[in-house]
Amino acid sequence: METILEARDLYRFHEVRGDRVPILRGASFTLTRGSFTTIMGPSGSGKSTLLHLLAGLDVPSAGDVLLCGESLSHASEARRTALRRRSIGFVFQFFNLLPDLTVRENVELPLMIQGRAPRRAAARIDELLGLLGVAHLHDRLPSGLSGGEMQRVSIVRALAGDAPLLLADEPTGNLSSKAGEEVVTLLRDVVARLGTTVLLVTHNPRDAAMGDRVLFLNDGTLDVEHALTGSVSVHDVHARLEQLGI
Ligand SMILES: Nc1ncnc2c1ncn2[C@@H]1O[C@H](COP(=O)(O)OP(=O)(O)OP(=O)(O)O)[C@@H](O)[C@H]1O
Ligand SMILES: [Mg+2]
Repeated sequence: METILEARDLYRFHEVRGDRVPILRGASFTLTRGSFTTIMGPSGSGKSTLLHLLAGLDVPSAGDVLLCGESLSHASEARRTALRRRSIGFVFQFFNLLPDLTVRENVELPLMIQGRAPRRAAARIDELLGLLGVAHLHDRLPSGLSGGEMQRVSIVRALAGDAPLLLADEPTGNLSSKAGEEVVTLLRDVVARLGTTVLLVTHNPRDAAMGDRVLFLNDGTLDVEHALTGSVSVHDVHARLEQLGI
């Protein structure tokens, strides 16, 4: 199995009033191509911190991130940015769509930043807008969309550049339960079709159960030993949370 991403003993400290406070304490795991991994953890457990390290948006205090075999943590900022643009799509809790750009322009923007002609990717973008059920909204502004529609557009944006890895930070955190379920189900179906590797962090057990592996993050410690694998049910996730006292 090809390894897309490897986290090696990641630590992250923050200075709080002169003290060095540990946020992440030794997170290690690998993501193989085409896998769908979810990380469950309570608010403040370090989920966003971890994703930012994996995406090279932040650097670890110790440890390393290998993206497609290349060290992110020892790379220059320019190299990290280049690797991130080529290899990672990011989905945020608050969508991060630009308000003055249409749906299509929002989706095209990362391609233009990469120096790719969006017209060449037009067929790909149309296909993705269709798969996520938002093709009819292509010329609207984000303000005219529901939360679920905005998140589906931001998934198209994350996938349009054919990055092998998609990182999602609480993609349903700002959606109703029904819209959230639709979005995660669509995401799972589309990435299965494309072969994209996914890491999704959430504090929603239903979203976590979408993964073919569920890891638990508690107080900055990633409990890989107690991962759930196979076809995971929401019930399994609740039972493990109870067992871990989360
Ligand atoms: N720049 C910073 N300085 C000090 N502490 C920070 C900083 N950034 C994050 N933290 C702390 O690190 C901890 C983990 O934060 P993080 O945002 O990773 O949690 P999270 O699991 O994503 O939470 P949520 O579910 O609320 O999004 C929190 O206690 C937070 O207050
Ligand atoms: Mg967070």
